[in-house]
Amino acid sequence: MNQTGYLSRSYAPVRELKAGARQLNRFPNGNQEEHPYTLFTLKPLGPLLGAEIEGVDLGTPLGSDLKAELHRAFLEWKVLFFRNQQITSEQQVAFAKEWGALERHPFLPQGSAEEITRFEKNANMTGNENVWHADVTWRLEPALGSVLRLSEVPPLGGDTLWADMGAAYDNLPDEVKEHIDGLTAIHDFTSTFGRHLPPDVLEAKQTEFPAAEHPVVRTHPETGRKTLFVNAAFTVRIVGLAEEESEKLLNYLFRQAHIPEFQVRFHWEANSIALWDNRATQHYAASDYFPNRRIAERVSIAGDRPF
Ligand SMILES: [Fe+2]
Repeated sequence: MNQTGYLSRSYAPVRELKAGARQLNRFPNGNQEEHPYTLFTLKPLGPLLGAEIEGVDLGTPLGSDLKAELHRAFLEWKVLFFRNQQITSEQQVAFAKEWGALERHPFLPQGSAEEITRFEKNANMTGNENVWHADVTWRLEPALGSVLRLSEVPPLGGDTLWADMGAAYDNLPDEVKEHIDGLTAIHDFTSTFGRHLPPDVLEAKQTEFPAAEHPVVRTHPETGRKTLFVNAAFTVRIVGLAEEESEKLLNYLFRQAHIPEFQVRFHWEANSIALWDNRATQHYAASDYFPNRRIAERVSIAGDRPF
C-alpha cells in the first residue's frame, strides 16, 4: 500500500457521490422539541437552517423579550431573514449592536458609516465572495456574525447561499471524524485580501493580523455543537500533516459545504436583511448578475476565540 493508502480510501471521490438519507439535525442532539415563538412569525426556508421572521421592525430597539426570542431563533436557525425593512444605515448598525461589539474589516471599503463594510459589485469589480467561506477566520477571534442589507438588488440573480457546518460535520464518516478530532489548521488572509497589496503594506498587515491557528472542528460557544471550521477562502493548511495530505484532506472537507441538503438559498429584494451566525455556517454570494450592479452593506459583530 502506498503512503497515502489511508487517504485514498477515506477521501476517494466516490464517497462524495454517496446518495441516500443525510442526518439533518438543526440542534446538537437531534431535532428537539420545539417551543413556539410568540412575538413574531417564523417561516423556515428549509429543514435545517434559514428562516424568515415576520412581524419585527428592525428600525426600533428590540427590547429584552423580543431580543431573547430572536436570540433563540438565531441559534436554532443560524440565519434569520427579514423582508420589507426600510431602515437606515444607523438603524442597521444599532440592530447589529444588539448582538455584541462591532468590528471593522481592515481590507474592505467602508460604507456610509464607520462600522459598515460596503460591497459594490459590477462588471469591473466582480469580487471574491463566490467561494464558500466563513468571514474573517484569519482573525484570532473571527466574527460572531453579520447583518447584511442590500441597497441595490440586481434585476435577476445575486442570491446568497448559506451552509450549516454543524450538519456537514454530523454527516462525515466516523473514520474522518476520528482523524480530524484534535487537529488544528492555519487561516491566513494573504491569498485573498493580501494579493494586491504592496509588499511593505502586506508585511505590516501580516504583523497586525498574524495567521491564526484554529481547531478543524470547533465547538459552538452557545449551543455546544461541533462544527466543521475550515473554509476554502482562508484555511491554508492543517498543522502536523504533510503538504499533500493536508491539501487532500482540506479539499475533501471544503467540499462538504457544497452538499445541497446542508444549504439554504436566499433571494434578495429591496429592503431585505440577513443576520447570520458566522460560527455555525459558511456562505457563498452567487456572482451571476453582471453587468448589473449589486450593492451590499455589512455590519460585523465581534466573536470569540474558537475552541
Ligand atoms: Fe463573506
